[in-house]
Amino acid sequence: MQRATWGSKLGFILASAGSAVGLGCIWKFPYVTAQNGGGAFLLVFLALSFTLGLALMKIELALGRAGKAGVVGTFCKLGGQKWRWIGIPSVLGCLIIMMFYGVVGGWTIAHIKMTALGELATTDTKVLGAAFGDFIKQPVEPIVYHILFIVLTLGVVAGGVQQGIERISKVLMPLLFVLMLALIVRGLMLPGAWQGVEFLFRPDFSKLGFDGMVNAMGLAFFSLSLGMGVMVTYGSYLDDKTHIPGTAGWVVGLAVMACLMGGLMVLPPAFAFGMNPSAGPGLTFISMPAVFAHIPGGQLFGTLFFILLLVAALTSSVSLLEVSVSYFVDELKWSRKMASLVPSLLMVLGGIPASLSFGPWAEVKLFGMTIFDQMDYLTSNIMLPLGGIVTAIFGGWFAWREVEHQLTKGGQLSPALLQGVRLMAAWVAPVVIAAVLVKGL
Ligand code: PHE
Repeated sequence: MQRATWGSKLGFILASAGSAVGLGCIWKFPYVTAQNGGGAFLLVFLALSFTLGLALMKIELALGRAGKAGVVGTFCKLGGQKWRWIGIPSVLGCLIIMMFYGVVGGWTIAHIKMTALGELATTDTKVLGAAFGDFIKQPVEPIVYHILFIVLTLGVVAGGVQQGIERISKVLMPLLFVLMLALIVRGLMLPGAWQGVEFLFRPDFSKLGFDGMVNAMGLAFFSLSLGMGVMVTYGSYLDDKTHIPGTAGWVVGLAVMACLMGGLMVLPPAFAFGMNPSAGPGLTFISMPAVFAHIPGGQLFGTLFFILLLVAALTSSVSLLEVSVSYFVDELKWSRKMASLVPSLLMVLGGIPASLSFGPWAEVKLFGMTIFDQMDYLTSNIMLPLGGIVTAIFGGWFAWREVEHQLTKGGQLSPALLQGVRLMAAWVAPVVIAAVLVKGL
């Protein structure tokens, strides 16, 4: 059977950027940046994204197009059966990410409803904080929303690559960017908001330790969807005419821009409202409703915002599910239906303890972290960087000839730049990632 490909070059860029741009930049980036002291953390995040991140994006896409299979299949095809065991943790990692990602996706759906009904129409962030806390604490409702989020993801994936993912990315992602831009401008007009801008852009390296570096690296991998075979899988649906280096540049650029916009949208109002911006995962869900309460038509714009955030989250969750689907279809020869249903069920089940860890199971902790935090820490800060090391070594050493061939297809790449990518993959990425992990953990 001919493998499906993306409908157009723009469609592919939007779909991969859709995978990268999601809750990572709007929900996670602002509060993690705040928790790690702001400016200095941002600089490290940016530096890692445009060096290691960009190189890995090229390598993953190139490997995928060369292998024409999901992550496990690609490793096996290009490197032999012994590489199978290197691909499988990626499938597992995507499953775990989706368990906690689905919970936050569920919060997003709940916020569509609450904003539309005017339940959050207050500028008092104390009241909003309490409402948010009460909501995520509940044992049943957030889980129902989590299930709904997984069902929506399943619905898009069942629609197939092109129709499902590409169609919604094309229209709604640009709309999200425009709305964010408007909200940034409005937020910056609040008295006291510039403190947030200063916090974000003035580096203070005394606030950044090695654990902060691990967090920055984890956030970069998470925000760019790297290290888990997502871009390998997407690359496998890429036609031969597309120039990978240019495409990779677009995807990284869009994702980093979305993160900066997420930070600029959430942090200045948080400062203006006197919130503690490093309070944790509720930041976006508390400060944005307060912004909406300040603007005319806020109920409408707020509802639209959470709908678009849901779409952005779905274009990411779809890519996470797609990694499992293509593994089960390509390797185990399951039907696409079975291959989508089984991992979705696991994602639903795994999301239950993650959600309960904000309420009844809040005291269940390991290394001082709740179940939700552990899933996040394990995947973002350990599995994604380790996946990055393996992919870089594989692409830089074992499959370089294939990667080189893919990188020069469909456009020009000067020999110097090509050598740069090789150096990055073969040496810099593995050494830097390993060093940060060893020092920081
Ligand atoms: N990058 C996605 C986001 O920011 C999340 C993601 C992580 C997707 C890892 C795939 C792999 O929302």
